[in-house]
Amino acid sequence: MYELIAQARAVITERILVQPKVGIILGSGLGNLADDLDQGAVVPYADIPGFHTPKVSGHRGELAVGRVEGCPVAAMRGRCHFYEGYSMQEIAFPVRVLKAIGCTTLIVTNAAGGLRPDWQVGDIMRISDQIFLPGMVGNHPLRGENDDRLGPRFPGVVGAFENELVPIARDVAATQGTTLREGVYCMLSGPAFESAAEIRMLQIWGADAVGMSTAPEVIVAIHSGMRVLGFSLITNLAIPDGPPANHAEVLEVGEQAKPRFSALIRGILARL
Ligand code: HPA
Repeated sequence: MYELIAQARAVITERILVQPKVGIILGSGLGNLADDLDQGAVVPYADIPGFHTPKVSGHRGELAVGRVEGCPVAAMRGRCHFYEGYSMQEIAFPVRVLKAIGCTTLIVTNAAGGLRPDWQVGDIMRISDQIFLPGMVGNHPLRGENDDRLGPRFPGVVGAFENELVPIARDVAATQGTTLREGVYCMLSGPAFESAAEIRMLQIWGADAVGMSTAPEVIVAIHSGMRVLGFSLITNLAIPDGPPANHAEVLEVGEQAKPRFSALIRGILARL
């Protein structure tokens, strides 16, 4: 993997004009959050060794590197998911590459189902912790031999989402008049949305939002020693007696929330 990271880094660094400090993963329907970049360069995933192009609608497959609000970023427009058939290692590989090209911070975003009946569709939740269900039962990106050059065998995860970016995120949200929810994100493998019984189980477990991504990338970012900040856009309410979720709704809410979500991320980047 070390060699593949170096190959990917070589392809990207040859084409970019600024060295990024912050990596951003843009989830379902949020891919154009970083559309207007200064000194921007776009590298299609197809050109980067080890990257795969997502096949799900709402996910473009390109890495955009440039300045947003003065901050040098590398934004992944679209990500791959476990349910598409990729391994956890493949899904999280781009995070290794973000680190290798200079990113010391990772901002992850996703679309998620809200598990709190008092929350609303369109709410933005800062991820304060995660439950990585597939990882807990063996589908873990760090399974296998550990390369000590990349990180420790047994990385600690407690407190990973609590860092100096949190007060900045809260302050930017408050300044913009955006309610910032905070809660626990639970990743399930998908692609089926949850049954009513599964939703009740997740609520009992203390999860506040449920989705099909993010946790493996976060684990690898922690392993790599990156600072992490995560946000879920609540695109639907996953409540046991509510209507079933659907992907069109997820994309539509993403579309509507884009200006608010984008403003929040930009506001944070302006302060980094
Ligand atoms: N469940 C799982 N993943 C999701 C959901 C959901 O309700 N909404 C958006 N992604």
